[in-house]
Amino acid sequence: MRLAPRIPFSETVYIKCNGGWIKAKGVDLSLFGVKIQVADDECDDKKSVKLKLPLKSKPAVLNGRFYRKESDKAVILFEEHESILADIVGRLLTDSLRKIKRCPYCRKTIRDGADRCGHCGMPLDFSKRDLVSTLKQIRIGDLLLRRTKETPEEDRTEERKEFIGTCPQMKKVFDLIRKYASTDYPVLILGETGTGKELTARAIHERSSRRDKPFIAINCAAIPKELIEAELFGFEKGAFTGADRRKKGKVELADGGTLFLDEIGELPQEAQAKLLRFLEDFTIERLGGTQTIRCDVRIIAATNRDLEELVEKGEFREDLYYRLKVLTIHLPPLRERGDDVVIMAKYFLKKFAKEQDKDIIGFTNEALELIKNYSWPGNVRELINVIRKAVVLTDRKYVDVEDLDIDASKVSSSVVSKGGIFNLREHIDRIERDLLEKAYRITGGNISRMAAMLGVSRPTIYKLMEKHRISQNSR
Ligand SMILES: Nc1ncnc2c1ncn2[C@@H]1O[C@H](COP(=O)(O)OP(=O)(O)OP(=O)(O)O)[C@@H](O)[C@H]1O
Ligand SMILES: [Mg+2]
Repeated sequence: MRLAPRIPFSETVYIKCNGGWIKAKGVDLSLFGVKIQVADDECDDKKSVKLKLPLKSKPAVLNGRFYRKESDKAVILFEEHESILADIVGRLLTDSLRKIKRCPYCRKTIRDGADRCGHCGMPLDFSKRDLVSTLKQIRIGDLLLRRTKETPEEDRTEERKEFIGTCPQMKKVFDLIRKYASTDYPVLILGETGTGKELTARAIHERSSRRDKPFIAINCAAIPKELIEAELFGFEKGAFTGADRRKKGKVELADGGTLFLDEIGELPQEAQAKLLRFLEDFTIERLGGTQTIRCDVRIIAATNRDLEELVEKGEFREDLYYRLKVLTIHLPPLRERGDDVVIMAKYFLKKFAKEQDKDIIGFTNEALELIKNYSWPGNVRELINVIRKAVVLTDRKYVDVEDLDIDASKVSSSVVSKGGIFNLREHIDRIERDLLEKAYRITGGNISRMAAMLGVSRPTIYKLMEKHRISQNSR
């Protein structure tokens, strides 16, 4: 049985994402979130967003987090206090249920204005804060138990991945990895998405004296805020509704090894305070427990956000920031790694062609030129995906420009592709010449009529005819 009912909700909602409002179509609404239809590239997964809900009185704006479910569907889970959820979403749900007049639990008809279903006895007034707060508690317990079942205790089977880099910036990174591996201090890894932050964390662990102990990774952005402390520090049986057994947290599981805190900038304030305390004495207490447990864990944190800015905004603790940033590694974006992009592209092409058992020899010169000039906003991860897709789809022996699924608007203007598919100037010239020839044919070469037809002046027509070498013999 659902903890809180969902209602069909086909209203237009607005989501504030990447600075602007985007429009999406609601699918259904529950107390904890809304399911929407929204295009794949409109908003990034796990991003904090604002959601404008249409209400009869005036639109309400709620904070939430965006989770992509399918290419055209996503959910936004509300990150709001229960009083706000009750007042806004709860009221909306209750009103709709009263209109639908059917109990969301047992599907029987409900009496007008009833607070509870007369058949199954379930509460129906979701605008009551107590009910919302109880449902939230139960939901947290339920989510935690589901995670306990879903997530393997530790991941030591990760295949060893290649780490490619020949440019001076990457050589410096490799040098720092070696140096940092011999210490036990926290490390902070900074870099854009897909630059290899997790790979770097693993490389440090594998070169350290902890290499035979666990490497545990946790993505702070992927875990709902309410659950993160329980995930990190564990909980005792009975710590909250639904906690029917003790569970160790990631810190305890990483004992003797390394704990990698990915997207540390997303760690909520309370968890930041607890992490700082842990870094001071290396002890933890499980949620709902009283026992102090010593854990020998090395912390490596990573983020693609500007932590200094988060500190200034008061969203990240300054003391924790200073504690973490003593040993820092900055991973350069792929576009600043010179020939590494080509070396990597060739490496992955060979690897995927072998995996797919395809007879691909290499890239055409134009394809290599494009790879070199593209800005790779998704960095190495994007490069890997583009090459993997090209290998699957191409029937050629040499992967060509058309095989590369690259956004042409992010190619540097200096690229001149021989095939001309990205050369805007060539396209414009071709269109210009076609139109000019058409106008010439229709008007029989009458300059005034050509000028009127194309909406330009007569001197412009003369200039264009000269440029495209159009004369009487074009007729
Ligand atoms: N220098 C490299 N050589 C080979 N593969 C790499 C390199 N850098 C990254 N990769 C690969 O690119 C992919 C993305 O790397 P990783 O997950 O470490 O990036 P990230 O910085 O943690 O990304 P995000 O910010 O999105 O979490 C992985 O498959 C990784 O193995
Ligand atoms: Mg990562």
